Amino acid sequence: MLTIDDDTAYTKAATAVKAARALVITAGAGMGVDSGLPDFRGDKGFWQAYPAYETLGINFVEMATPRHFSEDPTFGWGFYGHRANMYREAIPHVGFAILLDWIHRFELPWFVVTSNVDGQFQKAGFDEQRIVEVHGSVHHLQCQNPCEPEIWPNEELFDIEPATMRSQQVPTCIHCGDVARPNILMFNDWSFVPGRSNAQQRRFDHFIANCPKPLAVVELGAGSAVPTIRWTSEMLGQKHAATVIRINPREPQIPAPHISIENNGAIALAGINKALLSSK
Ligand SMILES: NC(=O)c1ccc[n+]([C@@H]2O[C@H](COP(=O)([O-])OP(=O)(O)OC[C@H]3O[C@@H](n4cnc5c(N)ncnc54)[C@H](O)[C@@H]3O)[C@@H](O)[C@H]2O)c1
Ligand SMILES: [Zn+2]
Repeated sequence: MLTIDDDTAYTKAATAVKAARALVITAGAGMGVDSGLPDFRGDKGFWQAYPAYETLGINFVEMATPRHFSEDPTFGWGFYGHRANMYREAIPHVGFAILLDWIHRFELPWFVVTSNVDGQFQKAGFDEQRIVEVHGSVHHLQCQNPCEPEIWPNEELFDIEPATMRSQQVPTCIHCGDVARPNILMFNDWSFVPGRSNAQQRRFDHFIANCPKPLAVVELGAGSAVPTIRWTSEMLGQKHAATVIRINPREPQIPAPHISIENNGAIALAGINKALLSSK
């Protein structure tokens, strides 16, 4: 593990950030860990965050399915209502502010691409118009059918019974009154309404086609089990000659000329920031 004073990787990353004329931030669940949010790394990680599901013998993939909303909505909303509550209460860690500071200080055009559904970038002050939530958002709802391709804000408050992981509240569709579900792309999901994510993706594609180069990509806490975010960073490296700074305490590997930082997100960003300040 790198400490904040281990210079080499931080200096290289600082050089890449300074040379960049545009910045893309890519983030997986590990970006939330330093704000006290769980990642779901493997069954063990998931059960550590949700011991009740270990007792019930259910893993993340089995829980993250739209089936529960049609077959057993109070159970489906137990998981997602709990997460909506938790993400609403979380306070984004200092790393978010460091990234915003670089954007302002170096006047960098920027975009965020995340598989997180937790809305933490918006909460930290990042402009909603410059964020792609590739797997959707727990803070948005859709009809479980869906009767209409509409997506609306999730303003429901959830009371969850911890032992059974059932929610007392089940949001309903604003059109047909059927059960509403989070606008999140789940496993075996044929009813996800993609309108919001697609519009975000179109804005990102336009940004990439038109942004000044060179481009730096700062990737934080993206796992290899669902590698969407890692692939996005690597694609930007290959197709757009971006330098990727991959920050991850357990799986930071990426071939040179990209930069691998084996540390937690908040510490690594502070380390790069320190190198940036001392290189003035
Ligand atoms: N907060 C959220 O919205 C959230 C949370 C869990 C899972 N999910 C969903 O589940 C899927 C999980 O994939 P994933 O790759 O995002 O998560 P993952 O749980 O599979 O992997 C998390 C990654 O973060 C790294 N990590 C752990 N602690 C870290 C820290 N302090 N700083 C930086 N990195 C750290 C781990 O080594 C791992 O590589 C995604 O599709 C996502 O939509 C979302
Ligand atoms: Zn409906």
